[in-house]
Amino acid sequence: MSGISGLLEHVERTAVLDRVTAPVADWVRGRFRGTRAKDLAHGVPLGHPAHPALVLVPAGTLTAATLLDLVPGTERSRDALVTVGLLAAVPTAATGLADWSELRDEQQRVGVVHASLNLAALSCYALSLGASVTGRRGRARVLRGAGGVLLHAGGFVGAHLAHRQAVGANHAEQLPFQVELGWRTLCAVDDLPGEGRPARMLLDGNPLLVVREADVIHVLGEQCSHLAGPLSEGDVTVERGEMCVRCPWHGSTFALDDGRVVHGPATAPQPAFGVRVVNGRVQVRSPASPTETTSPETPETPADPDSR
Ligand code: FES
Repeated sequence: MSGISGLLEHVERTAVLDRVTAPVADWVRGRFRGTRAKDLAHGVPLGHPAHPALVLVPAGTLTAATLLDLVPGTERSRDALVTVGLLAAVPTAATGLADWSELRDEQQRVGVVHASLNLAALSCYALSLGASVTGRRGRARVLRGAGGVLLHAGGFVGAHLAHRQAVGANHAEQLPFQVELGWRTLCAVDDLPGEGRPARMLLDGNPLLVVREADVIHVLGEQCSHLAGPLSEGDVTVERGEMCVRCPWHGSTFALDDGRVVHGPATAPQPAFGVRVVNGRVQVRSPASPTETTSPETPETPADPDSR
């Protein structure tokens, strides 16, 4: 296993693959850019990447078709399973392509291997269907076997993408638990950036995004949930009538009010911190804090009226 992982790490460093991946990724982004279909393909309405969920149908049906070769008299069932698997592979591939187009170079290189293995597997299954309906059952069986091997090799590479390279993971998940719970002083009100200008500030060594909108102060996790891009280097925009921040790396857009995803490729929201102003100091509270939590920094004086 470590040999295969080592091979994939070598693929990650093989920059010559960029000659293929870069123009293809540009083309895919150009087709999807700014469309509702793009958010749908990434899984924004689900709050979870759509591709891993869709993989279940083609992987399950095609694997079952291969296994049924061990059971005599199931030819028609095998053909039906292969047909369903091939049809289900179309939206699965489309969502994978959309996600792949918004990855780092190293991830795209491995993604090409993943897609190539899956494409080879699907070709084997498609040819097996042709062989089966024309009565060449031995050939169909061999092709289903080869398809099964290629499909699972593709799945292994997909696991490398997801678990080693953290594609599809929420890169902002840990933040609420990495800061001390309860109200914490972040800065003086006078230190806040100008209205609508994003700024990066540290709390317990963790970067936070701070944006002032009139009397309201927004504080979100600074590292984008998609691939940890620096949101303070992005643009503050208005989307659907509300203030948002757009990630400079792949354009994920988050509502400043509560961190929810307005546009992908991110599907997980940014952690949104509670904010209040006390005696001229901005205090923030991790969203992981229990509501009853108090801390030594809880003020003895009431919060300013503009606190929330
Ligand atoms: S890191 Fe990809 S959109 Fe932010």
